Amino acid sequence: MKVLVTGGAGYIGSHTCVELINAGYDVVIVDNLDNSSKKAVGRIGEITGKEAVFYEADIRDGAEMERIFAKEKPGCVIHFAGLKAVGESVKKPLEYYENNVYGTLVLLDAMRKNDCKNIIFSSSATVYGDPAFVPITEECPKGKVTNPYGRTKSMIEDILTDLHVSDPEWNVILLRYFNPIGAHKSGLIGEDPKGIPNNLLPYVSKVAIGALEKVGVFGNDYNTPDGTGVRDYIHVVDLAIGHVKAIDKIKESPGVKIYNLGTGNGYSVLEVIAAFSKACGHEVPYEFKPRRDGDIATCYADPSLAKKELGWEAHYGLDEMCRDLWKWQSMNPDGYAG
Ligand code: NAD
Ligand code: WQD
Repeated sequence: MKVLVTGGAGYIGSHTCVELINAGYDVVIVDNLDNSSKKAVGRIGEITGKEAVFYEADIRDGAEMERIFAKEKPGCVIHFAGLKAVGESVKKPLEYYENNVYGTLVLLDAMRKNDCKNIIFSSSATVYGDPAFVPITEECPKGKVTNPYGRTKSMIEDILTDLHVSDPEWNVILLRYFNPIGAHKSGLIGEDPKGIPNNLLPYVSKVAIGALEKVGVFGNDYNTPDGTGVRDYIHVVDLAIGHVKAIDKIKESPGVKIYNLGTGNGYSVLEVIAAFSKACGHEVPYEFKPRRDGDIATCYADPSLAKKELGWEAHYGLDEMCRDLWKWQSMNPDGYAG
């Protein structure tokens, strides 16, 4: 089967393309390179020995999307393309709604016109807001999302669900990721944020390599064992394999399905910094700072539904996530620009 991957040059997309190719799928990438590099596409080929077809195109360009779908005739779409910086989305809500929500509408229209009605969507644990309970199951109600980025995810989930109601031939799998970190074990692909990183692990690894001075730990007075925020960090390769399993599921025409992709384990910021210090061989300096607006104390998954229905579970632990991120960081100190 041919799989069209929007945002396939990005962090999670590139790792997923590797696992798709390894599983025997033909992969077509559509990415406007807004937050990624064409080098990542070359590296996918280097790792797998097989090139992905690549279109530098914007999902908001309807004519181009229709042309690509008519030519490639994919059986399924994995939809990663989107803007994802929470803080930026508060400052630029229109850009986020336009890129993420409108972009998805254009993509869906091109799919419909070409009779491709299978889609796997990159959603996020952010849709649970401050979760009603932990560990979070898929039954946990969607919560009050505190930022436009998160609202685009929640809206797109609703749009895709409405689409299935209107036409049951559509199959939709909503994957709610927890906190993806790490990199491919080859060190050839990884996360390459532009400017100062917003997320914890890219920040910690930039401090470890000496590009930033120390990690600011946002709050040490949460109701958690050591007072710092607790999250469910998941190795990006485990996450990528989850998408391959979701394709197996979508072939059964399951209608609309939702799965949490997490490990089920929560780690605090201080535990993460300690694990990374071990991986890189020296202490990573940090200081406590005030809480960050919109942050919650604790968020981790109950991933048992994905295990039961997809036959998927995460295999890598925090030490392996830090080891692989450090390999990517040390081999590519300037990311893909180096
Ligand atoms: P990323 O920025 O590395 O990848 C997104 C890719 O989409 C980039 O390559 C970018 O160039 C491309 N893109 C953006 N807008 C586009 C457009 N209009 N047309 C074509 N391409 C476009 O981000 P990522 O971390 O790999 O995230 C992938 C998806 O997973 C996103 O939808 C994100 O919201 C979601 N997600 C990410 C996380 C996380 O922590 N990284 C967590 C939950 C959900
Ligand atoms: C993790 C922990 C911070 C940076 C975000 C999005 C979410 C999803 C994943 C896309 C928290 C603390 C962080 C730093 C710190 N993305 N921290 N110092 O906030 O759980 O989730 O990414 O869907 O939607 O909100 O991830 O990595 O930013 O933070 O102390 O410099 O690390 O307070 O406890 P988060 P994160």
